[in-house]
Amino acid sequence: MSNDPIAYHGAILHFVDDPGSRRDPGRAMEFYPDGLLVVRDGRIESIGDRRALKPWLTVDTAVVDYGEQLILPGFVDTHVHYAQTDIIASYGTELLDWLERFAFPAERAFTSGIHSREVADFFLKELLRNGTTTAMVFATVHRESVDAIFAAAQAARMRIIAGKIMMDRHCPEWLRDTPESSYEDAKALIERWHGKDRLAYAITPRFAPTSSEAQLDVCRRLADEHSGVFIQSHLAENHAEVAWMKELFPSSRSYLDVYDRFGLLRPRAVYAHSIHIDEADRARMAASGAAASFCPTSNLFLGSGLFDFGAARDAGVHVGIGTDVGGGISFSMLRTLAEGYKVVKLAGNTLSPWRALYTATLGGARALGLEANVGSLAPGRDADFIVLDPNATPLIERRMAHATTLEEKLFAMMMLGDDRAIAATYVMGECAHGLVPEAIPRVG
Ligand code: GUN
Ligand code: ZN
Repeated sequence: MSNDPIAYHGAILHFVDDPGSRRDPGRAMEFYPDGLLVVRDGRIESIGDRRALKPWLTVDTAVVDYGEQLILPGFVDTHVHYAQTDIIASYGTELLDWLERFAFPAERAFTSGIHSREVADFFLKELLRNGTTTAMVFATVHRESVDAIFAAAQAARMRIIAGKIMMDRHCPEWLRDTPESSYEDAKALIERWHGKDRLAYAITPRFAPTSSEAQLDVCRRLADEHSGVFIQSHLAENHAEVAWMKELFPSSRSYLDVYDRFGLLRPRAVYAHSIHIDEADRARMAASGAAASFCPTSNLFLGSGLFDFGAARDAGVHVGIGTDVGGGISFSMLRTLAEGYKVVKLAGNTLSPWRALYTATLGGARALGLEANVGSLAPGRDADFIVLDPNATPLIERRMAHATTLEEKLFAMMMLGDDRAIAATYVMGECAHGLVPEAIPRVG
């Protein structure tokens, strides 16, 4: 028996395709200024104009009225480190030094299941406060850290992809695994968590410099032995890292080629940053189905470089957005999009609000191969959605009063918004953050 549906009223926007680099989104989006989103049993049942849908609703359908607030799909964060929550905004260094001074010491504490769970709970709440309902997450090298994030995500009913970091060299001895132990740990974790509820496992070699060839072979073996698992790693983030990779893998044509040689380019593989790559790499990435995660906040904060968004999309590479906390300094996908806009501008192009919001929702879901489940509000999708408040702050309210088009409003929201703009976050049809206006038990 299914439950009665609930209808959410508001201005509803979602994407059905990539709007491309044009200013006009064309048929890539659907917008219902006076819309209804009908949810039943955690899934979207229908979406449309209020007047058109009203006759189809039963008398039992309650309506939750968000007025003129904007309803969007939940955000998809394609790259974030939950174990780096406590060292977010650490001063002064670049990637390799930052790892040694801040990231590695923070990750050391995740031998403790209790510490892991406390951070995992905080982290997931922070995602929800920022409107993120799906995320691809690095844990640490410890099994306990993976159990904690999956258990917390299961309790929160969120769609979380996560994995144990694999690293068997060039890192502190207290964070080091071996090819054998990483195989056994990952296998046990896949069996325990992959495919349970909304959880999925990602094979997680930290990056090429910290894995031996034997361990990269293990990654391939794990991916071949377990259908449907994801792969996540870092690629070509900063110049010193790329130079180091060349010393370690002198026979590889490029950084990407290292992962390719070990069979790690495939659909469901996501490579964070992917900044210092060339046309041949982009073509290979696109052909393989592997995706790039664009992490502009992190890239600016660590001074890593400017991702070429236009070139990646023109080459057919799937691109999602990643906050990359703690290299990134915000959990907010809106703030991350604002930084993305600036990075694209520095490359001489313009990231439209359409394409930005597409990339943070359906684009991210496509990068993860999850577009049948999340990323849009099409019927049958999981009812993960958010409500954006156009009056969230005095400044946003003031700017909105001077905006005449939807494009202008969305752009202002993306440039000025943060967690304060997220009035509510729904996970599988349940409010997981924010306010629910009282439901009216009949369609008005
Ligand atoms: N490259 C390898 N490890 C990391 C990490 O933890 N953060 C970032 N930003 N880059 C990495
Ligand atoms: Zn990262």
